[in-house]
Amino acid sequence: VLLALTARLSVIKLGGSAITVKSKPLAPRLSVIKAVAEDLACLYEEGERFIVIHGGGSYGHPLASKYCLHKGFTNVVQLKGFAETELAMRDINSILVSSLAEAGVPVAPMHPSCMAVACRGEIADLYLKPLKLTLELGLIPLLHGDVVMDVKDGFTVISGDKLATFLALRFKAKKVVFGMDVKGLFDKDPKVHPDAKLLKLVKARELGNISSVPSVRWDVTGGMRAKLAEARKVASKGIVVCMGSIVEKGGLLKMVKGIEGDYTVIVP
Ligand code: IPE
Repeated sequence: VLLALTARLSVIKLGGSAITVKSKPLAPRLSVIKAVAEDLACLYEEGERFIVIHGGGSYGHPLASKYCLHKGFTNVVQLKGFAETELAMRDINSILVSSLAEAGVPVAPMHPSCMAVACRGEIADLYLKPLKLTLELGLIPLLHGDVVMDVKDGFTVISGDKLATFLALRFKAKKVVFGMDVKGLFDKDPKVHPDAKLLKLVKARELGNISSVPSVRWDVTGGMRAKLAEARKVASKGIVVCMGSIVEKGGLLKMVKGIEGDYTVIVP
């Protein structure tokens, strides 16, 4: 059953800058979350199957950064920070769970801190069985970037991007979609150059040449540069990667279904 399932499986990452307000701590972007939930419900009804992973945005990053959780365990003050960060991640997670359920997506929430172990900031071990079984039942697993125990560093922050590529490779997914608040990759920084052109098709090995978009201040998981490294990892193994805006309704739907649009596709 699983093999037939994974042949049409997509892994979808909902970027924190799309689903939360970057400049304001603990602020969800409800219009975007609603548009995404409706797109996902539509896709589900059409028979698409997917794993959804959301980022931390202004919930996870400011706290993880304040307590330096991404640098590993160094002092006991961080332990309170761990709890605070987990609580904030659960807050944004429960907004997503209720929005998806309300739109008609049979969502199965899962917390990576309870399923995964890291080693030096990389996923070393992730219990896949709950994911396999939920997918077989027709449920949609919903995970998120999280603080995960690390056998060498105490704990670390594992991005939703890393979880997405890890799961895509393990489940041999057909596609990874990175939903963002920007249209995709450009030939130059569009914030500085108004004539920057959207790159619609990029080869995995060309990703190194793309001048990286600067990361926002609170980003503890490496921002765009780290995202491109993850994209390259899966695209070079034959999994198609789409990067584009999910801010407007239909944006996510187009990328998952492969309908022509203003977004970037990365191929091997
Ligand atoms: C970060 O997850 C999770 C925490 C900070 C706890 P991501 O790295 O996937 O979040 P975004 O998408 O960049 O906001």
